[in-house]
Amino acid sequence: MANPQRTQVGIVGAGPAGLVLSHLLYLYGIDSIVVENRSRQYVEDRVRAGVLEQGTVDLLTEMGVGERMKTEGLIHYGIELRFGGRGHRIDFKDLTGGKGIMIYAQHEVLKDLNNARAATGGQVYFEVEDVSVHGFDGCRPTIRYKKDGNSHEISCDFIAGCDGFHGICRPSIPSGVLTEYVREYPFGWLGILAEARPSSEELIYTYHDRGFALLSMRTPRISRLYLQCKPDEDIALWEDERIWQELHTRLTSDGWKLTEGEILQKGVTGMRSFVVEPMQYGRLFLAGDSAHIVPPTGAKGLNLAVADVRVLARGFKEFYATGRRDLLDSYSEIALRRVWKVQRFSWWMTSMLHRFPDENPFDRRRQLAELDYVTGSRAAAKTLAENYVGLKLPGRHL
Ligand code: PHB
Repeated sequence: MANPQRTQVGIVGAGPAGLVLSHLLYLYGIDSIVVENRSRQYVEDRVRAGVLEQGTVDLLTEMGVGERMKTEGLIHYGIELRFGGRGHRIDFKDLTGGKGIMIYAQHEVLKDLNNARAATGGQVYFEVEDVSVHGFDGCRPTIRYKKDGNSHEISCDFIAGCDGFHGICRPSIPSGVLTEYVREYPFGWLGILAEARPSSEELIYTYHDRGFALLSMRTPRISRLYLQCKPDEDIALWEDERIWQELHTRLTSDGWKLTEGEILQKGVTGMRSFVVEPMQYGRLFLAGDSAHIVPPTGAKGLNLAVADVRVLARGFKEFYATGRRDLLDSYSEIALRRVWKVQRFSWWMTSMLHRFPDENPFDRRRQLAELDYVTGSRAAAKTLAENYVGLKLPGRHL
């Protein structure tokens, strides 16, 4: 076995959960090694989420990785809900006592975190192969992997499984331990990235007879747009012309015009809600998408991953400072309380805004009443706003 290594926390996956955890632990004086099977380039280029909750922004700032976000990110204090051809603004600032969200792409967050890790001597190994986790039911966990054909082993005190929904950590837990809660949706999102000035200053979530549409953005020159589609939609059938046509139809509103531009990227994503309980087995802790998936309608995936590792990092901090495992032992319970509330919100936004293939006329009237209520009642708008900007995180940030 080449090069046996030792660290305190071995982290599988260099996405938002893994990198935020690694850097938080560094700030706490705790050593970690991150292994990632993809290349740094791939991770830093892949277009994913784009909405950061206020709490996520605050945490990244306190961690010292918020400089570029502060200058390049776009602060939004509301969103628009559009239905019946009319827009209705949900004013976050007013409804939440001054809170907002930040538009800043996930892959930009990852660049900032990778730079911070590199600048502080962080060990993040990209393009490793055959990663496997062992010994976490006892007190000698190890992570094995191959790099350039050589086998390596990291021995650690704990393992953090931050390797996403398709990762190896969750399936490494013996069967019968985890309970899975799943809900599939009978639709997907067709998403495009376009070189077009965003046609609105704020995000527009639209409920239309032909299905949901969303106008979002990445920068003042790049729009991100989505259309509800079939879960197995063939992207090859969607020429640029057809995509724009459909976006115009669904987003239409009096006196408003959608700006077109060159489509830089397009793809289809499925939608599901998924949770495993508990989020821990022995010395293996699951965080982020390895433990749960939300449909993207609430813009919560990345934020939930960050909230998980914040709780987890505090558990490690307590353990290494005092030897006590109280916080670590309650990680799953604390994290899941938030996970389920965010699941509820993401499911609710999804249910309110999409057309369901099996819906009946009652469902449709109920959806319209829901939208009318949310945009007409301050109490209802407030529950949307407080969830969208992000529920309170337990305790102080760092
Ligand atoms: C995005 O910009 O990619 C985005 C924004 C809001 C959502 C989902 C995705 O709810």
